[in-house]
Amino acid sequence: MEDSFKKIISHCKEYGFVFQSSEIYDGLAAVYDYGQNGVMLKNHLRQYWWKSMVQLHQNIVGIDSAIFMHPKTWKASGHIDGFNDPLIDNKDSKKRYRADVLIEDYIENKIEKKIQKEIEKAKKRFGQNFDLEEFLRTNPNVLRNQEKKKAINEKLKNGLETNDLQIVRQLIIDLEIACPISGTKNWTEVKQFNLMYSTQMNATESDEALYLRPETAQGIFLNYLNVQKTGRMKLPFGIAQTGKAFRNEIIARQFIMRMKEFEQMEMQFFVKPGEQKEWFEYWKKTRLNWHTNLGTPKDKYRFHEHTKLAHYADAAVDIEYQFPFGFKEVEGIHSRTDFDLSQHQSHSGKKIQYFDSISEKSQVPYVIETSIGLDRLFLLTISENLKTETLPNREQRNVLCLPPALAPNQLAILPLLKKDGMPEMGKKIFDELKFEFNCYFEDKDSIGKRYRRQDAIGTPYCITIDHESIEQETVTLRDRDTLHQERISISELKSRLTDKLSLAKLLEKLE
Ligand code: GAP
Repeated sequence: MEDSFKKIISHCKEYGFVFQSSEIYDGLAAVYDYGQNGVMLKNHLRQYWWKSMVQLHQNIVGIDSAIFMHPKTWKASGHIDGFNDPLIDNKDSKKRYRADVLIEDYIENKIEKKIQKEIEKAKKRFGQNFDLEEFLRTNPNVLRNQEKKKAINEKLKNGLETNDLQIVRQLIIDLEIACPISGTKNWTEVKQFNLMYSTQMNATESDEALYLRPETAQGIFLNYLNVQKTGRMKLPFGIAQTGKAFRNEIIARQFIMRMKEFEQMEMQFFVKPGEQKEWFEYWKKTRLNWHTNLGTPKDKYRFHEHTKLAHYADAAVDIEYQFPFGFKEVEGIHSRTDFDLSQHQSHSGKKIQYFDSISEKSQVPYVIETSIGLDRLFLLTISENLKTETLPNREQRNVLCLPPALAPNQLAILPLLKKDGMPEMGKKIFDELKFEFNCYFEDKDSIGKRYRRQDAIGTPYCITIDHESIEQETVTLRDRDTLHQERISISELKSRLTDKLSLAKLLEKLE
């Protein structure tokens, strides 16, 4: 598993997807840049999200709010007081950890793994007669471990919710969790650490601190009234936005999973109070369907109910994907109640309510939020689609089996030889198709090498121009996944490829 993750990271660098930021200065920890292919894939993923929200829903609109917001925003939203991570240091290695993550990792590695082992053993023993549900309900070892897990989770939740960090530290001591670097259990106290970056608007010391937004959602809440009024929106309706967010993640790790600067795609769906449960279920289902529509098998996803709710939520669930390093969150769906709008109403003194003509009452709307990290989605997409295959001629290839509409290059136009009119014909085809598709042109190197490079970045189709092309106005069209090559006439290219490469077709499958 470790190795497959390393392979993903080196593939991302080698093929121009993701680079360490400021690499020539030895890099900046937990900050990354997207290269020439990465930016294309990222743009296509963002478009898939944006269109599925804004274009496919008649009652969802988009905005693009500024990263800087009035400092009062973060007091009202609770981020100044409550957006903290509980951190603990190992006195010997001097390494800092998130105390809750140390405990969660213990559960995953020590308890979950034991349960999984029992399941594997039983599967082998009972073969076809194995009944997983029955086994989980009755096996004493599984039940004992489930109980242990529950007890730890309850203690952790209690410690975090009451902000009694001594409980959290005691759990680490009682579970005998050791520092992975020093191997010792010599821990400091647990302390809360705020994750927001602060700066100043003007360069004077008396200026109130300005924060880089840690979530894009607040820009939506602050524009609720503007959008509702100018768009004449009626409940239920949604506001979507994509953009950068910043968090001072002390324990940044796992490549682009946890970054200090990252991109979110968030949608706040405003509903009548009392309808939030129904909409929460609706968005859980809709969002999972959006993920699996990209071709990822359903069993690579699971829902994870939050035990520790964020300060604004009355229900929350994560959509987790099975990365090479285990199931981890890609998206959160949160029932945020009327917390944010009420807070902004009281801190700003502006009425943020809607009038319900049936009950004849003014109320603050409730909110269901869907929030996905674009960088995590990017990592998911590469993890899921990067494959190593042995070809019929026994050569190995790395192939990125991306959904065609998302690929950085949709077509590669490859003259077989750099003579006899082939490059000229290739350029002509490029100029005809470039308005419709993302095309790439290359006439250097052997055709085999060029195919390998296009496979590695996920180009779904290669168009090869040879002598016959010049004589008969035909090309070969090579399919990335089946390796099938067929000769077709140049005039047919556009009509043959439009549906196969279309984002609209991918979106249609959602309906
Ligand atoms: N507005 C709600 C919110 O921000 P969150 O669970 O803190 O909720 C939502 O973040 C999503 O943003 C996560 O599911 C994850 O995909 C992404 N995300 C959060 N922190 C991140 C980080 N440090 N690096 C990359 N992605 C991150």
